[in-house]
Amino acid sequence: MGGTVVIKWGGGLITHKDQLCTVNLDVIDSLAEACSKSTKKLVIVHGAGSFGHMMAKKFRLAEGRVAGLKQDEAIERVRSDMIELNNHVLSSLQKYGLDAKTFSPHLWATGTGPSFKGELPIFDGVTVVYGDVVEDSEKEFGILSGDDIMLRYSTELPNVERAVFAIGGVDGILRVPPSKAGPEDLIEIWSPDMEFEGEHAAEIDVTGGIGLKAARGAMISEKGVDVQIINGEHPNRVLAAIDGENVLGTKIVSGNC
Ligand code: IPE
Repeated sequence: MGGTVVIKWGGGLITHKDQLCTVNLDVIDSLAEACSKSTKKLVIVHGAGSFGHMMAKKFRLAEGRVAGLKQDEAIERVRSDMIELNNHVLSSLQKYGLDAKTFSPHLWATGTGPSFKGELPIFDGVTVVYGDVVEDSEKEFGILSGDDIMLRYSTELPNVERAVFAIGGVDGILRVPPSKAGPEDLIEIWSPDMEFEGEHAAEIDVTGGIGLKAARGAMISEKGVDVQIINGEHPNRVLAAIDGENVLGTKIVSGNC
């Protein structure tokens, strides 16, 4: 069976990011099928895409309490939208025979960023968690990104073999924005001292885009865990990355090695 692999299903991969609450069921099924073919113990962290960012942006939920905005309704809406997206993920995992259980972060985590508080829940089968709106002692509430959850699971669970970030639309970290990139622009091995011109859709994205994945990936690899960013639209790459085989994508190294 081997050790544990922590894998992120990016929100831009599993939803159509520019249309409110539209799920990409084909991609979710192909990810679930790939996961079902591995014998590793899995922790799946999924993102929000159009089930989180748009409402969170409109009501400035990442900033915490802002007077004059109907934020309480927006918090409930984003949380229930995320549960809806999570239900799609869970049914797909079950369809492919995986015994999976979700732990909604707003029930166990507080605070945002890499040092959020809360004991990381773990299940004997596949553990599923996701980016969520959580309580915060200073701001009242905020957005906890799945990338920060990735960091904590990857570095605090025993026996983690590797962390995989499956994203949509690109093969890994590119030297130039995707719209301008060719195959030669894929950075196969990246460390924090290398620059890249990531495209961050700040107008729709309330967390950190590819830059946050790269930064959290570097923090994970610093602790000795292998990290890879891959294009999650290719199920064969997803399975190969989980199993630690050579695959097209970006390996992140800590910069200290
Ligand atoms: C964002 O989580 C959570 C919400 C906006 C509610 P992530 O940062 O993990 O989401 P993606 O992967 O960028 O969509």
